[in-house]
This record gives sequence, C-alpha cells and structure tokens, in this order.
Amino acid sequence: MGRARIAVAGAGLIGATHATLLRASPTCTLVGIVDPAPSARDVAERLGVPLFATLDALFAAMPVDGVVIATPNRLHVDQALHCIDEGAGVLVEKPVADTVADAERLAAVVAATGARVLVGHHRTHNPILVRAKALIDEGRLGRIVAVMGSAVFLKPDHYFDDGPWRREPGGGPILINMVHEVNTLRMLCGEIVAVQAFASNAVRGFAVEDTVAINLRFAGGALGTFMLSDTAACARSWEQTSRENPAYPSYADEDCYVIAGTRGSLSVPTMRIKSYPAGEDASWWKPFEVGTADVRHQDPLALQIEHFAAVIRGEAAPRVSVPDGLANLRVIEAIAEAARTGGAVELPSGS
Ligand SMILES: NC(=O)c1ccc[n+]([C@@H]2O[C@H](COP(=O)([O-])OP(=O)(O)OC[C@H]3O[C@@H](n4cnc5c(N)ncnc54)[C@H](O)[C@@H]3O)[C@@H](O)[C@H]2O)c1
Repeated sequence: MGRARIAVAGAGLIGATHATLLRASPTCTLVGIVDPAPSARDVAERLGVPLFATLDALFAAMPVDGVVIATPNRLHVDQALHCIDEGAGVLVEKPVADTVADAERLAAVVAATGARVLVGHHRTHNPILVRAKALIDEGRLGRIVAVMGSAVFLKPDHYFDDGPWRREPGGGPILINMVHEVNTLRMLCGEIVAVQAFASNAVRGFAVEDTVAINLRFAGGALGTFMLSDTAACARSWEQTSRENPAYPSYADEDCYVIAGTRGSLSVPTMRIKSYPAGEDASWWKPFEVGTADVRHQDPLALQIEHFAAVIRGEAAPRVSVPDGLANLRVIEAIAEAARTGGAVELPSGS
C-alpha cells in the first residue's frame, strides 16, 4: 500500500487538529472532511480538501483507507460501524462510546469481523508514558505496590457559562477528565477490579461534582489513590506537567503520578527514579540510587496518526483497542456509581 488515504469526520476542536497532522504526515494523505456544519468549510478550504456532509457522500466519492471520527460522543459507534461496513480502518476519539452498552455493540462487531479500530486515547503514544511503562515492565520498580495520581486543576468560571450542561450530572470531571486518567492507570498498572469514591460539590455548588477522591484496586494486587478536581488551584495534573499541550502553562518541578514498587518508585512526568541497586537489601535505612530517565518529547497526536496508518496497513495491532475503550468506560461508570452510593464497586477481572 502507498500512502494511507484518510478522511476526518467532525472538523471541530480536535478533528481540525487531526486533519492538520494528517496533512503533515509522511505516510498518510488527508483526502476529505465530513461535517455538515457551515464552519467546516473554512477547515476544508484551509487544508485544500473536499468537504462532504455525510459519510455516505464521502464513500460514494472516493476510495478511503481510514476515517478519524472526531464527532460528538453519541455518534461514535454508529459512525464507526458505518466505516467498518465500508471496509475502512477507524480511529475513533475517546470516549469510544457514550455508554457501556453502545461500546459493547461496537466491541462485538470488531471481535466478529477483525475490523481495524484504534481508540483515540492519545496519551498512550506519549514517549513519557511509553518510557514509564517500559521501566515498570522491565522490573526497575520491582512488584508494583501502589500508585498515587492526581488531576487537580482550576477550570475558569466561563467554562461553565459557555456550556451550561457542564453544571449538570455527566458534565463533570469524572466523565470528561477521568477517562484519560483511567486509560493511563490501566496502561501502567494493569486492570482495575474495584473502586471506591467520595465526591463533593462544596465549592462550585453545581449539581455535578467538582472534586472526587478515588480508591482503586488493580488485578495484580496493587492499590491506588487518585485525587480529581476542577476547582483547586494546583499544578498536579498531566495537563500542567507533561508539556503535551503548549496551551497549558507547565511546571517542571511537579508530578501527577508516583508509582511505587518493592524495589523503587517512579515519579511521572519528571521521570525521577529512586530505587535500590539490584542484588542489595531494600530497606528505608538504606539510601536509594537516584536518577532521572531520559525522554525525547514528541507530539503524541502525531505519533498516534502514524500508529493508525500502521494499523490500517495491517502492520500493528491497535495499542488502544475497542475492548480497552470499553474497559475504560466501565471503570468510569463504576467510579460514578461509587461516588453516588458511597460503596465499593467491583468490576469483573479482565472486563
Ligand atoms: N483526545 C483528546 O484529547 C480530545 C480532545 C478534545 C475532544 N476529544 C473528543 O473528540 C470528540 C469531538 O470533540 P470536540 O471537542 O472536537 O468537539 P467539537 O464540538 O469542537 O467538534 C465536533 C464536530 O463534529 C461535527 N459533527 C456533528 N455531527 C456530525 C456528523 N453527523 N458527521 C460529521 N461531523 C459532525 C460538528 O459540526 C463539529 O464540527 C469528542 O468525542 C471528544 O471527547 C478528544
């Protein structure tokens, strides 16, 4: 196959970014935009590609190897199924679906057909997390015991005025922000099998939560705590530490995860490692060997596009599969239920 011929459905905030990256890709050709909104005309003109109002019109007009679906969540599954029917590969934005039931519908078709579908949890492709996972997998930290994570930041008041739905249940940080974190936690520490949560709306006073304290149990026996808030003036978030999106100010002295094992710990994204030298006794009376793992920063969205092209060519399995997207959604639903009921919620192991 030559260059992969890829279209983008949904030319909003993230779709326009995908389309721009596709134009710059060495292995892909952006062949068109699908979006019924008048505002999409500007994006298509700027990128010099045809605009279609529907997926049907796109597929009727030209051969397409893959489609990036960057439309509102409730359209993801039907549009992904449509592309699968046409034999195209799919990169579907996160969350994979609006509901667990819808994600299950897509997962069943992917399992039955072997369709090539990648879910857009782009942080998976960030070299920081790729390096962190490699360090964990090669045993640098020993057996993983605990993870402490945070996504604690301050969203501006106008964010809630611009989208009043964000004040209502479902518009808060559990559904909007935590799905990224769950994917990262599962990538680094394995499947999540149980959760507990306390939620609060004490500061903003909206119907939706503004702050959540979450406990996690992993299949391998590790435990985790995660602090989530959109109303605290703090830099302990991936957004304000990873330098992934230059629109956010970033603080090089802060971390958003500490992963601790029986031989050492890793702070992410500073990548500071404190570990006991191999073969030596480990104890809090002994000094750690202290170091920092090197990482070459690269745009994970651009890396994700190159991975998508490899998936389309049949050279790679999706690094974030539909079953992964479904598992992430199940954990999110469990956190929301735990916060609502105040009880622990178990998830089937390997779900
Ligand atoms: N990976 C990330 O970090 C990230 C960031 C932002 C958004 N997202 C996800 O991307 C998706 C889009 O989010 P957004 O913020 O870009 O939204 P947006 O509202 O800015 O854009 C959505 C676009 O979809 C178009 N659209 C609506 N119906 C359509 C249809 N039937 N066919 C084609 N296009 C249609 C709209 O006209 C709009 O241009 C969501 O699923 C969101 O969760 C992911």
